[in-house]
Amino acid sequence: MKGRRTRASEYMHWAKTRSRARFNLATSGLANLKLQELQISLSDLEITGEGGYGYQPLIQALADRYRVDTACVVTAAGTSFANHLALAALISPGDEILLESPAYEPLLALAHYLGAEVKRFQRRFEDDFRISPAEIERNLGPRTRLIVMTNFHNPSGVLTEDDTLREVGELANKRNARVLLDEVYLQMLFAEPPRTAFHLGNQFIVTSSLTKAFGLSGLRCGWILAEPELAKRMWFLNDLFAATPVHAGERLSVVALEQLAGIAEQAQIRLDRNRELLNQFLHTRADLEAIRPPFGSIMFPRVKPGKAASADELCRLLREKYETSVVPGSFFEMPDHFRVGLGGDTETLTAGLERLGSALDELR
Ligand SMILES: Cc1ncc(COP(=O)(O)O)c(C=O)c1O
Repeated sequence: MKGRRTRASEYMHWAKTRSRARFNLATSGLANLKLQELQISLSDLEITGEGGYGYQPLIQALADRYRVDTACVVTAAGTSFANHLALAALISPGDEILLESPAYEPLLALAHYLGAEVKRFQRRFEDDFRISPAEIERNLGPRTRLIVMTNFHNPSGVLTEDDTLREVGELANKRNARVLLDEVYLQMLFAEPPRTAFHLGNQFIVTSSLTKAFGLSGLRCGWILAEPELAKRMWFLNDLFAATPVHAGERLSVVALEQLAGIAEQAQIRLDRNRELLNQFLHTRADLEAIRPPFGSIMFPRVKPGKAASADELCRLLREKYETSVVPGSFFEMPDHFRVGLGGDTETLTAGLERLGSALDELR
């Protein structure tokens, strides 16, 4: 282990330095809102709060939204840091965890960074990227501490239903393990109250944020829902990491949560319109195949074998000649695929898809 510990995320580095393009179809969430789109006045803000474990109005707003006790809510800087804090509280170096494959690479890198022994279970294109509890059971061992998944799944965008999650929860219970679910995309169901696996049992810990469904990434308003003892452990652990959040961000997050219904309405309209466009495009392409979820902001098409050059080559050509970016599937351990995001403005998506078609034609 020594000297080989993962200390970076290749995907995040790529996303920060290489994903930008005139026609950016690489982002996975709703396009960022501007401050002026929130109804806010300077008097809503303050520099310093009371400190302690969480800003109570924010904790309360999240507890109300999810119908949970405030003792179950831990706030964190985005889902990213919520994942870090949750994983760091749940596992010790050498612990075995079971993580989905394909996976959101920063989750995998984080597990390695924390010294976990990472075993995988597959979500296969041929099975519509569904979770198979039977496969999870086969891979569970006596040392498995944690099962880690995303819902919707990143990169495929596929939803895992509660019945399946209950089965996974029972398997975890039998082994005295827990289930960590990153639900950042699940909010794109736009259900009220929002759906969460947290209500399925004490073995479930969930993370999320306002980043993806609401275009509020910059607020870094993330959270963990966990049973109170575990939540307390996370707050104490956070004293070693971030100690205290940016208070102005907490204040802004409370304001945003008050206005979430209106933001969600616009987001849903955009996603529905853009999904239709992407579906129409995929329908015209004999060289692509894709699982097409009826909600969410991402799809993960595959270049059909023998139909074009590799998906990596496609991504490169798109960037270099067509000013368009998608996420290469190699970041998700599936190099035949690429991920398309549909949360941007409709004009950009239309133009980006046109270019995607031209690049595919050129590679034929
Ligand atoms: C599954 C998943 N979790 C977490 C994140 C990061 O979310 P945040 O911006 O809230 O840290 C992403 C971003 O792409 C993601 O796909």
